[in-house]
Amino acid sequence: MSGQLYTPICDMLGIEYPIFLAGMNSGGAGQSKSPTPVKLVAEITNAGGLGVLGDSFLTLEDLDQGIRELKSLVGDRPYGVDFMLPAKLENVGSRSNLEIHDDIKKEYPDHVKFIERMIEELELTKVNVPESSPMTYEHILKKIDVVMDNDVPIFAAALGDPALISEKAHDRGMILMGMAGAPRHAERQMAAGTDIVVAQGTEAGGHTGSISTMVLVPQVVDVFSPKPVLAAGGIGTGAQVAAALALGAQGAWIGTAFLVAEEGNSPEVQKDQILGARSEQFSISTSQSGKQQRAYHNIVREAWANSGLKTLPMPLQGVLNEPLNEAIKAAQRDDLAQIPSGQIGGMLTERRPAREIFFDLVNEAEETIDSMKSYLK
Ligand SMILES: Cc1cc2nc3c(=O)[nH]c(=O)nc-3n(C[C@H](O)[C@H](O)[C@H](O)COP(=O)(O)O)c2cc1C
Repeated sequence: MSGQLYTPICDMLGIEYPIFLAGMNSGGAGQSKSPTPVKLVAEITNAGGLGVLGDSFLTLEDLDQGIRELKSLVGDRPYGVDFMLPAKLENVGSRSNLEIHDDIKKEYPDHVKFIERMIEELELTKVNVPESSPMTYEHILKKIDVVMDNDVPIFAAALGDPALISEKAHDRGMILMGMAGAPRHAERQMAAGTDIVVAQGTEAGGHTGSISTMVLVPQVVDVFSPKPVLAAGGIGTGAQVAAALALGAQGAWIGTAFLVAEEGNSPEVQKDQILGARSEQFSISTSQSGKQQRAYHNIVREAWANSGLKTLPMPLQGVLNEPLNEAIKAAQRDDLAQIPSGQIGGMLTERRPAREIFFDLVNEAEETIDSMKSYLK
């Protein structure tokens, strides 16, 4: 074979291979644990890629502690932290979570009835919802302070407007990443001063757009170059990493394929759901957060799809879901949580150590690039 998988972004970030563990939060979807524990993030960074900690709505203390623990595991190697920045958190203002629930009850009684009916039909027990929401503007600003105080080298903004922290981040030498599900998002990221954009195709798990990775990546590269673009959405083999590079990306941002790693914290029943599903069983719905999200299609998503109800704007849809998610958590019915996961799930068959997944991706990508040369006469 003729060489190691290496692109300019490796120099930019000080990594050996352009393979990234995507930032993954639980999304509050009835899950009790973060899918990307510090150990998994550290494995990817220590293998020579870049591990990114999805903060899963942790408390400020947990976030701080997680970053410190990660630093102690990776030493001088780079890592990232990912969470949502505020952009359009409509209708929240300064109301408490309980006040928002009261308003939803008054304004959207049919929606509340749907949630109550789900709790009953699924034979769950009603529990109290949290008094304070992790989604408030103030809380997210405090999380940004934690990231800054810890001198995190790379920050990835899941949703929201990176312009909010661009100046502060760059003053500290922090590298800023943002997501694009459409070329116009990449234009916005460019204007905000983002350093790296992830072009995430609709195949992806989690919040996602409507354009496929194959069609999206070259368009984002056109908009964002000469700054680097990573490809995401439906990548789980080395051949797909090689395809991403062929489209102009400098690396692969991988979520679902690492979600089922042995070190991943997702409940085992959810790993089984992903490993046992066909690609078409990962549906897009606004049911969970109010924004289009791809997840394993379970009975809760099916019931929402059949309800005829209109999705509430973010974050109200998420708040609406809280009683159901809390009841799912309390009953430890992880099978009912709407687990974000992508179409690549249809190609995944077994749990494996993260390192093995990582080096299979690297080796297979190198072999693919090498073997493609035989197609040239
Ligand atoms: C469980 C899960 C949680 C996710 N949470 C986030 C998140 O909090 N922030 C974010 O930027 N993207 C999130 N994503 C999207 C990933 O960062 C990534 O773009 C996506 O998983 C790539 O597509 P793939 O799943 O096909 O690999 C999530 C994806 C999954 C599967």
